[in-house]
Amino acid sequence: MAAAFTSFHLWLFSCLALVSMAKAQDPDQFIFTNGFRRANLHLDGSAEIRSSGLLRLTNSSVLQTAHAFYPSPINFNHSSSSTSLPSYSFSTNFVIAIVPGPNEASGHGLAFVIAESMDFSQAAAVQYLGLVNEATNGNSSNQFFAVEFDTVSSIDMGDIDGDHVGIDLNGVRSNIQVTAEYFSNEERMNTSLDLKAGHPIQVWIDYDGRDQQLNVTLAPENTPKPNRPLLSTTIDLSDILMGTMYVGFSAATGSRQGTSSSHYILGWSFNRSGEAQSLDFSQLPKLPKISGGRNKVRLISILAAVVLLLIIIGAAYVYRRKKYEEVREDWEKEYGPQRFSYKTLYIATKGFKDKQLLGFGGFGKVYKGKLPYTNEQIAVKKVSHKSDQGMKEFVSEIVSMGRLRHKNLVRLLGYCRRKKELLLVYELMENGSLEKLLFSVNRPTLNWFQRFEIIRGVASALLYLHEEGEQVVLHRDIKASNVLLDSTLNGRLGDFGLARLYDRDGDPQTTRLVGTLGYMDPELTRIGRATKASDVFSFGAFLLEVACGRKPFDPNKPPEDIFLVDVVNRSFKRDAIVDVSDPKLQGNYVVEEMEKVLKLGLLCSNTKSDFRPTIKEVVQYLEGNANLPDIPLDSNSIAQNIPSSILETLPQSAEINMSTANNLSSGSMISFSSSVGKGLSLNSLSSIDSVLHIGR
Ligand SMILES: *[C@@H]1O[C@H](CO)[C@@H](O)[C@H](O)[C@H]1NC(C)=O
Ligand SMILES: *[C@@H]1O[C@H](CO)[C@@H](O)[C@H](O)[C@H]1NC(C)=O
Ligand SMILES: *[C@@H]1O[C@H](CO)[C@@H](O)[C@H](O)[C@H]1NC(C)=O
Ligand SMILES: *[C@@H]1O[C@H](CO)[C@@H](O)[C@H](O)[C@H]1NC(C)=O
Ligand SMILES: *[C@@H]1O[C@H](CO)[C@@H](O)[C@H](O)[C@H]1NC(C)=O
Ligand SMILES: *[C@@H]1O[C@H](CO)[C@@H](O)[C@H](O)[C@H]1NC(C)=O
Repeated sequence: MAAAFTSFHLWLFSCLALVSMAKAQDPDQFIFTNGFRRANLHLDGSAEIRSSGLLRLTNSSVLQTAHAFYPSPINFNHSSSSTSLPSYSFSTNFVIAIVPGPNEASGHGLAFVIAESMDFSQAAAVQYLGLVNEATNGNSSNQFFAVEFDTVSSIDMGDIDGDHVGIDLNGVRSNIQVTAEYFSNEERMNTSLDLKAGHPIQVWIDYDGRDQQLNVTLAPENTPKPNRPLLSTTIDLSDILMGTMYVGFSAATGSRQGTSSSHYILGWSFNRSGEAQSLDFSQLPKLPKISGGRNKVRLISILAAVVLLLIIIGAAYVYRRKKYEEVREDWEKEYGPQRFSYKTLYIATKGFKDKQLLGFGGFGKVYKGKLPYTNEQIAVKKVSHKSDQGMKEFVSEIVSMGRLRHKNLVRLLGYCRRKKELLLVYELMENGSLEKLLFSVNRPTLNWFQRFEIIRGVASALLYLHEEGEQVVLHRDIKASNVLLDSTLNGRLGDFGLARLYDRDGDPQTTRLVGTLGYMDPELTRIGRATKASDVFSFGAFLLEVACGRKPFDPNKPPEDIFLVDVVNRSFKRDAIVDVSDPKLQGNYVVEEMEKVLKLGLLCSNTKSDFRPTIKEVVQYLEGNANLPDIPLDSNSIAQNIPSSILETLPQSAEINMSTANNLSSGSMISFSSSVGKGLSLNSLSSIDSVLHIGR
């Protein structure tokens, strides 16, 4: 043990002595880890050390050669070999970068060299890589070993491709050459490597003189040394690595534009006493900023991509803005709680999908929806309007109507405004409109008890609107399709006050009379404005509609039967009023109630507003708190009270256009235009197209 210890000490001592001696005279190791600024390299040709510390052998000019050698020779003398390593073993690690010139092509190449002399003044550029010329190529008197990184395939040198690594002895016709690639430790596979991509590439060259093994290993920047070398070969360098040698680099560019690159060395370590230290990338000088062809193209494409991305983001933003765009003005602040955001309604109605469509009201499409978070079921009515004129008053009215509370009114929850669109949010009525149930062929019809309850409910709602609220609210469009049924089949009046919207649109010089033919007070056209009595008239038509299960106005009937009120009136005069009751009821009704409803319908439908009962009286009759007065037998036919021009044109237009007829028969909204103060002029009604506003 003791003997072994002593001999180890002795060995260690001699080693240390050798290293310190070598350091003093001919160093056998060195490292340039943060550039070559302080390095006293031997340069020739176009080689220079940039202010950044980069060693640039060539720029991209043509026909350049360049050399850079470590200034002191390295001792490879066999006889002065140490005990541990054969004298000609060495290990080196360096980082190269081959940056293509303006035309993106590259040339010609770069080589790591160990040579007897630093004098390469006779060497040529192009494929000779600054190492030899045509005459001296391969001559054993050259005395050099090189590893070339060749980016041009020179046929006369037997190159395999324009991206290879070769082992050169005394010439540039390589003994061994392989295409550049590296073994990725992580992926456990060979990965191709483009020498002229302009990126730093790490190179390790290790030679063990004992078993004459030479390894060349490549890897891209910031990658640990691959476990497997690119090239591992047995080669005897003892004839070349003799005495003192110079280590360094050689590079050359091509003879024409497009075959010239800038060749850079970023860092370098060399060792004869062991494995060369790897270089720390964070300390290496950086390559100059991208310029020139390929990089410019890359920069432009990156810029284009960024611009495209911005455009896409911008477009998405604009699209989103547009999608959820709404009109919101200062005066609306006080309606905060009643104001819904368009986005909320959009989400609630699943983007106003057709699947959510409940139907077409007199003023626009109605969508079913569910409010996010609260899950409250709603109906959203999309009302289009032409101008924002008077919108403030209208919204204020609508909102104040939202404050109306009655068990037979559909509650307005709020509103939202968009350009040319007003959205009204109501509570959802599960059973839809009364009209649907009355005229549905698929569903069992409503029985008399249900119908009578609905009639009483609507009457009490109208009483509330006319007499019991803070202000008088005229409905102006009472009809079965505006009566909605909640889950308990309770009748609820909807759309109240909406007709006002039509007053706001259009020419301020004219007023528009809104209503539905058959429900419309004939006096409206004369007086030119809606009254409580005109609501009562509509309610009368509604009563007859519910009792008879027929539309108040049906242009498909014979002329004397077009208006339901005329049919009921004739039946009344024959003293057989219940004959007109809905056949679908099959006689299952309380005769007194049926009679009462039909007679009340006739009373309310009196063409003279003075003879109609008030809604208060109507409710009293319905509740049985007062007896019905006599119906004047001489009450005129409705048909005689509608301007003849309309009657003449209506059936015709119905014949001409079946869809118009269908629209009319199912109770479309129509409105008349008339000049204020002048009353209705027949001339203005002569063209049906100009006066009929089909409100769907
Ligand atoms: C390259 O370097 C040479 C001298 O080293 C110089 O004359 C030439 O203008 C340079 N070319 C470019 C493109 O920088
Ligand atoms: C090799 O170079 C030497 C010295 O330059 C020269 O004398 C010799 O002729 C050359 N050999 C060949 C084969 O060219
Ligand atoms: C990788 O390349 C080396 C040298 O060319 C070769 O020997 C080896 O089989 C290759 N390995 C794979 C996984 O392709
Ligand atoms: C060369 O590479 C082989 C395979 O990785 C390895 O076994 C050998 O030790 C290496 N030789 C030198 C001198 O690095
Ligand atoms: C090698 O070194 C020995 C002694 O150390 C010396 O005699 C010999 O000349 C050297 N050979 C060369 C080629 O430098
Ligand atoms: C040379 O190798 C020795 C032994 O492995 C090591 O200590 C030293 O750091 C290396 N020097 C360089 C510059 O690689």
